[in-house]
Amino acid sequence: MILGGQASTLKRMTYGDMSESGLRVLAVSSGKGGVGKTNIVANLAYALSKRGKKVLVVDADLGLNNIDILLGLASKKHIGHVLSGESNVEDIILHGPEGIHVLPAGDGLQELTQLETEKKMVLMDELDRVSRNYDFLIFDTGAGISANVTFFCSAAHETFLVATTEPTSLTDVYALMKILHNNHSQKHFRLIVNSVTSEREAQGVYRNLTAVTDRFLKGVSVEYLGYILHDPNVPKAIRQQKAFLELYPFSKFSGCINELAEKVSKEKPKSLTGEGNQPYFWRSAFQAQ
Ligand SMILES: Nc1ncnc2c1ncn2[C@@H]1O[C@H](COP(=O)(O)OP(=O)(O)O)[C@@H](O)[C@H]1O
Ligand SMILES: [Mg+2]
Repeated sequence: MILGGQASTLKRMTYGDMSESGLRVLAVSSGKGGVGKTNIVANLAYALSKRGKKVLVVDADLGLNNIDILLGLASKKHIGHVLSGESNVEDIILHGPEGIHVLPAGDGLQELTQLETEKKMVLMDELDRVSRNYDFLIFDTGAGISANVTFFCSAAHETFLVATTEPTSLTDVYALMKILHNNHSQKHFRLIVNSVTSEREAQGVYRNLTAVTDRFLKGVSVEYLGYILHDPNVPKAIRQQKAFLELYPFSKFSGCINELAEKVSKEKPKSLTGEGNQPYFWRSAFQAQ
């Protein structure tokens, strides 16, 4: 891998180069931890796979409740082995329910926190190489506004923000949007409100957020993407290390996830409508034309 030339090759890519690509790279983030990102990613990936989409979930979190554990997958190797050059991405991909593929972080991302540009390029190059096999890459990011989180959000075409009714969740989502806008030129965000008792409640959260963003984050748009109901069985599914959709396919929670998956899988990718982020990483789909 020749890293020196790589960056310039990637940077030469234009939006037009990518415009034919069907690949969608989504980052799911929140600012605050414990708002349900990993659970949403696991179930959204499951629902998209059910609809025939090929999905790779990339664990981009350093936390404990990671996606591989949530789906009951055991991993010996992780992203760290890719970064050290010991393994290819294909060697460490785990096979989850409904054919979901999962790239486990292990403690391999700890190194990435140091933000060595070369390491990040190695990871992106590997993801780029395998991306031609997928319809969706979904980054399950960690909490906070660390360089890791903003890196994965800005490497995605779309950032899905997860908030709850807790006021701190809104302030943290706001802080994340602010940094992604100011430092990474992101303009469009899509909001999922989790753990609500009704859609009305979710729309209230959306209104509260946009009241602040409209006033203080000029040039930023937030789209209401959907809501997920609170369900007391969610912790049970997590303890059983199974996707909630698999255990309780007819619950209201699963209905919300299915609605979200239906919307996301049918719409025109935001990267094509001009509303999405335009990261310069994804060239494989272009080369595959
Ligand atoms: N819709 C929901 N209903 C009930 N509990 C939920 C819901 N979403 C998440 N949770 C609970 O919140 C906890 C944190 O979820 P998780 O997906 O790990 O959050 P994050 O990835 O944002 O840190 C989970 O252990 C789960 O019990
Ligand atoms: Mg998580």
